[in-house]
Amino acid sequence: MSGPAFPRKVQIQTTVACGADCSICPHPEQSPHWTNGRMDEALFDSILEQLAPHPIEYVSPYLMADPLSDRRIFERIARLRDALPNATLEISTTGKYLVPKLAQQLLAAPLDELRISSHGISAAEYARTMPGVPFEKAWRNIHDFIEQWQSAQPYKLAIVCLWGLWSPQREAEIAAYWRDQGVELAQWRVVSRSSQVDLTTFGQATADPTLYVRAKGEPPYVCRQRRDSDWLHILSDGRVTLCCMDYGQQVILGDLRTQTLEEIWHGLAFEAIRQDLRGTCPPELCRRCEWHVSADTESTQQQRNAVAVAQLPVL
Ligand SMILES: C[S@@+](CC[C@H](N)C(=O)[O-])C[C@H]1O[C@@H](n2cnc3c(N)ncnc32)[C@H](O)[C@@H]1O
Ligand code: SF4
Ligand code: SF4
Repeated sequence: MSGPAFPRKVQIQTTVACGADCSICPHPEQSPHWTNGRMDEALFDSILEQLAPHPIEYVSPYLMADPLSDRRIFERIARLRDALPNATLEISTTGKYLVPKLAQQLLAAPLDELRISSHGISAAEYARTMPGVPFEKAWRNIHDFIEQWQSAQPYKLAIVCLWGLWSPQREAEIAAYWRDQGVELAQWRVVSRSSQVDLTTFGQATADPTLYVRAKGEPPYVCRQRRDSDWLHILSDGRVTLCCMDYGQQVILGDLRTQTLEEIWHGLAFEAIRQDLRGTCPPELCRRCEWHVSADTESTQQQRNAVAVAQLPVL
C-alpha cells in the first residue's frame, strides 16, 4: 500500500455549473462534454456515511464548479458539518453568485472559510479573466457581502486573486485595494491547469519566481499538492478522479456507484497511479502539471521555504 489508510481531505463536486466562463480555467471548454450533472441525494448520503467514521480534516464541496450553483448547497453544508464536526469546511465562489438574497444564508452557514474569486479589480480585468461574471453586479455583491461579513465575521473570508496575470505594479494596486477594504487577499500563483489554459495571453506577467516551472528534474517525483496521498476527488456522479486538474475526466480511479470509498482508495487503479506519478512513467496529466515536481526540487524549495505545502491553495 503506497498511500495512507484513508484520505484526510476530500473534494466533492455536488454540481457542475459555474457560469463564470473564466479564461484561466478549463471549465468553459470541458464542461459541455461532461455527462454528469447535480449529485443525487442517495450518493451524497452514502459519501457522508462513509466519511463520517474517519478523522477527515478538510472538505471542499465543489471541485470543478461553483458550489452556490447547487440549490441544495446550504442543506449539504449543514449535513457535512453534522457528519464531520471537526473538519475544515470551505467553499469558493464568485461575485456572480453572491446575490443579496443568499447573503444571510451564507453568513449563517457553518463554514470555516469562504473564498471569493476575483481576478482583478476592474471591468476590463474581469472581461479578460472572468467574462461570464458581470463586473458591476459582482462588484456590488462582493462589497455588500464584505460589509455584512465584517460585522459578524462568522468564519474566515478571503479574496482569491490569481497572481502572475498582471504587471507587478498592477498587482501591487490590487493588493493595496483589498488591504484598504480590510479583507484578506490570497495571492495564488496562476497555473496552466496541466497545460489546459493558455497563459501566454497575459503578457505583462512576471515569470514564476519558484523553482518549479516546467523544470521537473529527475524522478522520483511528487505531487506538490499530495493529491495522490492526502486527497480524494469525487465527481458529481460518483466517479473518483485523480485531482482537480482532470477537467477532461480522463483519470478515473473508481466509481462510488459500484464501489466503496475504501475499495477505490486502496484499489488497483489508485495504487497504479500513485506508482506512476512518482516513478519514471507519470500520467500525462501530471507530466503537464506545474505541481508535479522532482522530490529533490521539492525538498530544496521547502528548505528555501519559498512556498511550503501548507500554503498551497485548494483548487
Ligand atoms: C476551480 S475553482 C472552483 C470554485 C469557484 N468556481 C471559483 O472559481 O471560486 C477553485 C479555485 O481555482 C482557482 N483557479 C482557477 N483557475 C486557476 C488557474 N489557472 N490557476 C490557479 N488557480 C486557478 C479559482 O480562482 C478558485 O479559487
Ligand atoms: S475558476 Fe471557478 S468560476 Fe471560473 S470557470 Fe473555473 S470553476 Fe468556473
Ligand atoms: S496533475 Fe498535478 S495536481 Fe494532479 S496529481 Fe498530478 S501533479 Fe498532482
